[in-house]
Amino acid sequence: MKQWGFIATWCMAFDACFEASKELAIGTKKASDIVEHAIKKIEDYPFYKSVGCGGLPNTDGVVELDAAFFDGDTWDFGGVAGVKNIANPIGLAKKISTDRFNCFLVGEGATIEAQKQHLPFKNMLTERAQKAWEQKKQDILLKNLSPYDGHDTVGAVTLDQKGSMAAAVSTSGLFMKKSGRVGDSPFSGSGIYVDSEVGGCVATGLGEDIMKGCLSYEVVRLMEEGLSPMEAGEKALNRFEQKMLKKRNHCGAISLAILNNKGEWGIATNVEYSFVVSTQDIPATVFIAHRKEQKTIIEKASEEWLQAWYKKTHRDTITI
Ligand code: GLY
Repeated sequence: MKQWGFIATWCMAFDACFEASKELAIGTKKASDIVEHAIKKIEDYPFYKSVGCGGLPNTDGVVELDAAFFDGDTWDFGGVAGVKNIANPIGLAKKISTDRFNCFLVGEGATIEAQKQHLPFKNMLTERAQKAWEQKKQDILLKNLSPYDGHDTVGAVTLDQKGSMAAAVSTSGLFMKKSGRVGDSPFSGSGIYVDSEVGGCVATGLGEDIMKGCLSYEVVRLMEEGLSPMEAGEKALNRFEQKMLKKRNHCGAISLAILNNKGEWGIATNVEYSFVVSTQDIPATVFIAHRKEQKTIIEKASEEWLQAWYKKTHRDTITI
């Protein structure tokens, strides 16, 4: 069997990773279809507050979603931003990725294209997300809290047995963002980048900062120079963070998930961050990472951690 691999940001991608790993081990489906399916599964799940259906709304109470798809063989790239009530933003991003022109659509234009393509629509604002929004409005007003917490973008990179790679990301972006605000996720090079001759990278965290460093591209570039996924991730993030501190005195939360075309994986993060991996050698597993003295420490998620995560994610109210 040839090497294959799947890596994705956050624990919420575990079920999708498990399913993807089964397909990748069989070896008949393409990386591009597997990664699209994985992200759709997460978009469809109404209890994840940062992606697709159930994603948290913007300051006007409207759910605006961003997504991107990238084929590492052909460099077909599609992005959508600020889309409303399209059931699977990633489906539209993949659909338009093969177009020579108009491969990035926003707002109303994206809606028209999704209608033309007969893609499904649904109300993406759940009662649960609406309640969280109302609560947050109160908190901001009464407790003077920052409105900008909570942005757990899902992103995945896949390598199939034929050596094809693909990546996809999907997010509701920053909670309480302004209407029309778009982060790093749908932009090639910032939130997503993949080249089957090298590898791929996806990002999660504060989009306003990630896009300043084009971090997904930078990681792939460093891998092309010969660095392993772990080395490339750490070098790109550490260097970027130092520059941010010098220029701006602060750097937001940033985490990366990286896979190369040999099925080797890596991550880099400046916060505690969960991610999922499966390769020919590792069954689908949730890991937790954090950074200590410029080094990334990775541990397998314990049973207690997983249970606590499940309880928090699946209760009726969302904690932001
Ligand atoms: N990283 C997702 C966003 O900032 O929108």
